[in-house]
Amino acid sequence: MTKFSLKNKVAIVTGGGSGIGKAISTTFAGQGGKIHILDFNMDGAKATVAEINETGATAVAHKCDVSDQKSVNEIINAIAKEEKIDILINNAGIAHVGNIDAVEEEDLDRLYNVNIKGVYNCIKAALPSLKSKGGGSILNIASIASTVGIDDRFAYSMTKGAVLTMTYSIAKDYIKDGIRCNCIAPGRVHTPFVDGFISKNYPGKEEEMFEKLSKTQPIGRMGSTQEIADLSLFLSSDEAGFITGSNYAIDGGFVTLNG
Ligand SMILES: NC(=O)c1ccc[n+]([C@@H]2O[C@H](COP(=O)([O-])OP(=O)(O)OC[C@H]3O[C@@H](n4cnc5c(N)ncnc54)[C@H](O)[C@@H]3O)[C@@H](O)[C@H]2O)c1
Repeated sequence: MTKFSLKNKVAIVTGGGSGIGKAISTTFAGQGGKIHILDFNMDGAKATVAEINETGATAVAHKCDVSDQKSVNEIINAIAKEEKIDILINNAGIAHVGNIDAVEEEDLDRLYNVNIKGVYNCIKAALPSLKSKGGGSILNIASIASTVGIDDRFAYSMTKGAVLTMTYSIAKDYIKDGIRCNCIAPGRVHTPFVDGFISKNYPGKEEEMFEKLSKTQPIGRMGSTQEIADLSLFLSSDEAGFITGSNYAIDGGFVTLNG
């Protein structure tokens, strides 16, 4: 554990009960970090915590809807009272499939509340602790949809564009406080998030859609949650101390090699 050690570091991972957030939580715990998972799905969060605790590492699950500022403040303030927060991973997010014709006001509000306001809520609450004792790292999970047009992702793209620009804004404003803020832009990653939207939006055509979505990555497959977790680990570790205000593509060539 000489490189990328998170020993004595405390990390908050939103949405750590499933998919990418789960892989980030278990990977960070494996590197010695103490993990706080904020998720509204306690079954998932508890399962991740149990997996981590079994290895002898430490993780705690907190029931939290990241779109609810009061709840986020209560939980993050309570954590910060006990220990310094070193790392914040804004991963919790929800999807929506549809062009603007298919996006109703309530869809737009729901996506905004979780994917944008959730990130705002968590950064705002964690900043005082992140800033203390020399600073910390914030990593936001953006998407390929942050920078390129994807069919039928109007509301989702809106939110992921905002995740990218919030990243730049935070990185600029808090660089003097020792805060690094970066984001990553995954292409399709095989998680329950992907399985969920395929089964919801393409019932009866699940296998066909899975193949189709796999092939939209020039590399010919979807990413794994572990691959996303490993990049997240690097960017959150001290080895990435010179990296801030950056957006890292992890997309099998989607953004630069399609076409
Ligand atoms: N899977 C992909 O292909 C892909 C690609 C690019 C970006 N992303 C982004 O990665 C992130 C994680 O995606 P995933 O595929 O692992 O999703 P997932 O659905 O498997 O997991 C998301 C987790 O977030 C939690 N969550 C959702 N809304 C929440 C809320 N309001 N408050 C607290 N927790 C909440 C869920 O309970 C779940 O545990 C999302 O931000 C997503 O937009 C995913």
